[in-house]
Amino acid sequence: MDLKTDLKTYLGEKKALVEAFIIGYFEEPIAPGILHESMKYSLLAGGKRIRPVLCLTAYETCGGNGQDIMPQAAAIELIHTYSLIHDDLPAMDDDDLRRGKPTNHVIYGEAMAILAGDGLLTEAFRMFSNNDKVAPAMLLQAINELSAAAGLFGMVAGQAMDIISEGKAHDKKTLEFIHRNKTAALLKASVRLGGILYNADKAKMDSLTGYGEAIGLAFQIVDDILDVTGTTEELGKPQGSDENKNKMTYPAMYGVERSKAMAKEQIDRALQSVELFGPKALWFKEIANYLLKRSN
Ligand code: IPE
Ligand code: IPE
Ligand code: MG
Ligand code: MG
Ligand code: MG
Repeated sequence: MDLKTDLKTYLGEKKALVEAFIIGYFEEPIAPGILHESMKYSLLAGGKRIRPVLCLTAYETCGGNGQDIMPQAAAIELIHTYSLIHDDLPAMDDDDLRRGKPTNHVIYGEAMAILAGDGLLTEAFRMFSNNDKVAPAMLLQAINELSAAAGLFGMVAGQAMDIISEGKAHDKKTLEFIHRNKTAALLKASVRLGGILYNADKAKMDSLTGYGEAIGLAFQIVDDILDVTGTTEELGKPQGSDENKNKMTYPAMYGVERSKAMAKEQIDRALQSVELFGPKALWFKEIANYLLKRSN
């Protein structure tokens, strides 16, 4: 069997389930219609849906059925999509292309883009908090973790450091802080949330944590590399955006080749970390290898 085709099928199936859930969830009209439209525009513009897939994979690798936590997995995608809308704003990275389409503010204006982001972030927590298949204590712990990772102990802190570091001399500590927070924190949480919702034991949680941390850092290193080596068409977002904004990135600090080696180091670490799951770690391993080789 062609493993690569298998992974493609696996990712495609999971992605379709997440998208179907999101479409259903946003079917009912929301007033004002323009807010509803702008949220749906970015949510349904495409995207790899890697964070929900990781959450579902973690839950299933621990022994559960992903269908049981679909609202929680999908909620992570709402948070991620909000972060992209805000990341592209003129006051932030000022980009006009995302997921192969004009960015939200280009279509709906800055005010509506900000509000669409606010709406997605807030609604994500409402979506996340509803699930009678998960024990309330686990749901509460998961919400606590997600709030930290998306906010002041993760993405928001990382994005703030990213912005204030534009044009500054590179330093390793700041660079790692940016990447671990703006991107790795939510990816790590996506993996861990699957374990938390399943009420996995400590050994499994440690394994998920190691994996999530490592793929999380690798993910942003690869994102930085692709900003240099990719094409706008392939990426669906403007190539060279980081250089234009004098961002602190791995390729700018270490060069492309060294950055590739560093990403690979993290992926090797991730593969090691899920050994605990034995043969069940197959999808984790496949996903980790794919994240290193991806072209968008
Ligand atoms: C892009 O994330 C932003 C980063 C955190 C690097 P993705 O590469 O997951 O973007 P989509 O969701 O597939 O569009
Ligand atoms: C963004 O990092 C991280 C987020 C939290 C959205 P980037 O600014 O490098 O992401 P892209 O390259 O615009 O997707
Ligand atoms: Mg950015
Ligand atoms: Mg950006
Ligand atoms: Mg980038």
